[in-house]
Amino acid sequence: MLTLNAVDQYYGGSHILHEVSLSLGAGDMVCLLGRNGVGKTTLMRSIMGQVAIKRGQILWQEKNITNLATERRARAGMGFVPQGREIFPLLSVEENLKLALAGRRDGQRKIPPLIYELFPVLKDMRQRRGGDLSGGQQQQLAIGRALVLDPKILLLDEPTEGIQPNIVVEIGQVLRRLNQELGLAVLLVEQKLPFARQVADRFIIMERGQIQAQGAMTTLDDSLIQRYLTV
Ligand SMILES: Nc1ncnc2c1ncn2[C@@H]1O[C@H](COP(=O)(O)OP(=O)(O)OP(=O)(O)O)[C@@H](O)[C@H]1O
Ligand SMILES: [Mg+2]
Repeated sequence: MLTLNAVDQYYGGSHILHEVSLSLGAGDMVCLLGRNGVGKTTLMRSIMGQVAIKRGQILWQEKNITNLATERRARAGMGFVPQGREIFPLLSVEENLKLALAGRRDGQRKIPPLIYELFPVLKDMRQRRGGDLSGGQQQQLAIGRALVLDPKILLLDEPTEGIQPNIVVEIGQVLRRLNQELGLAVLLVEQKLPFARQVADRFIIMERGQIQAQGAMTTLDDSLIQRYLTV
């Protein structure tokens, strides 16, 4: 469904991603792990076309999207929840969601009921300005906004960063539900190991822009954690 073949990426002269290859199938639930600065966000942004790659290929549903614009990737079913959320603070919750609707291929201009069903707080606060929500609520809004386009894969970059524990639990439950009930594939960047274990079936570990290990979540053992994840 999503395949990366030997992707290399640079910021100017800095070589960040080194021959990154990975593959996600429909309904996969994968967590990308790694210490700060190893290139996790750069990889997510490369997949979404927000940064150009220098070498390699990105395939989505068998099509080569290596040079496709970000909006076209979104329309093709790739939902992205960026690190730091990036919602519009001065727009209302509803306006944030409606703005995302503009990218729908089928011309639907109504917020899908699923969004408010998954996150009732967004319905209660739909007239509230995005910037007035708590961090956790903003994260839920960012996830809701990505879901408005009815994606086939959801990419999330550290959705639990700086969020109160009860909302972390809720977000975990929503991701599991989207995966299990709707078959949505998920690629999640996460630093909280308990959350990663609870939500994902498979892990990929990066270090210095390279994939160093991957496997079933049940095989993520202490030696891997010590070597690649503890600070
Ligand atoms: N816009 C940029 N221009 C130049 N260098 C950048 C840019 N963004 C990131 N980098 C560098 O690329 C490397 C990878 O950064 P990236 O943000 O992808 O890491 P990360 O794994 O997401 O880190 P974190 O866990 O802190 O979010 C770092 O060395 C970072 O300093
Ligand atoms: Mg990051």
